[in-house]
Amino acid sequence: MRELSGKVAVVTGAASGIGRALALRFAAEGMTLMLADVDHGGLAETAALAGDVEVLTQITDVSDAWAVRHLANRCFGELGAVHVLCNNAGVFQGGHMWTRDEEDFSWLLGVNLWGVLHGVHEFVPRMIEQDTEGHIVNTVSVAGLFASPGSGGYSVTKYAALAASLSLAQDLTATGSKLRVSALCPGAVRTRIGDSDRTRPAGLATTPTADEVESREWVSRAAERGMEPSEVAGLVVTGIREERFLLLTDPRYAERLREQTETLLTGSLPGYQ
Ligand SMILES: NC(=O)c1ccc[n+]([C@@H]2O[C@H](COP(=O)([O-])OP(=O)(O)OC[C@H]3O[C@@H](n4cnc5c(N)ncnc54)[C@H](O)[C@@H]3O)[C@@H](O)[C@H]2O)c1
Repeated sequence: MRELSGKVAVVTGAASGIGRALALRFAAEGMTLMLADVDHGGLAETAALAGDVEVLTQITDVSDAWAVRHLANRCFGELGAVHVLCNNAGVFQGGHMWTRDEEDFSWLLGVNLWGVLHGVHEFVPRMIEQDTEGHIVNTVSVAGLFASPGSGGYSVTKYAALAASLSLAQDLTATGSKLRVSALCPGAVRTRIGDSDRTRPAGLATTPTADEVESREWVSRAAERGMEPSEVAGLVVTGIREERFLLLTDPRYAERLREQTETLLTGSLPGYQ
């Protein structure tokens, strides 16, 4: 989809980080916005920063199917169409695989995987029916391409989000749809991802373990040194215009992916970085 101006974009996780940068970039392209998040204050800030374009906001917990259905109802009801859907909301939690509780996996899977699946289920049928060009961008991560120690729970959800993106793209292609899909796989980006616990529901809280704290601190430090969210948003807009499926923020990940495949095919465990 080359022309974005005048079209409608939906962004989840729009109160902070990559989601906010996507919203502001889409606004700069002249798009109408529907911004969703669980963080009311951050959402209002993003809306204020967006400038003159039409912006609607909706408090939405993407792990809740009914909340995402309500979001879709508002989009199609009040804005009349959706052309770009960014299933971007996500949370990080680290720690070794064997120290994670069911609550940890429930939270991570709820936001990072069910958030994507709910977005697909509630928006895509109506985007198909709309019969216009359209694009779905799922924010995955390099953690959906490579596993590393201390990020197992997160990686499980991101590998699954990549599988969801690939499967969605294959289904749309097989049915001759005008819709396209991108899987956004950033490395470290300067956001609040290391402080994801700020939105964790009390009902899914667990007591931090030393390995979990260490992973979280590592991710926070990596994010501080990471690329700017606005650069990622630029990559996404190019990806939409050029209809690219896999969006990597660093070309070295392509080489690493090749090396990983070759190592796996020898029967060995890939190294990590
Ligand atoms: N920052 C990085 O280094 C990095 C790298 C790879 C992938 N990602 C992915 O990028 C996406 C955006 O994260 P970010 O880095 O901008 O972090 P961030 O913490 O700055 O922003 C995440 C946003 O998601 C929102 N959110 C959390 N739970 C939610 C829920 N249940 N429903 C709706 N919104 C919810 C938060 O309130 C926040 O506004 C995530 O999917 C993350 O996994 C980030």
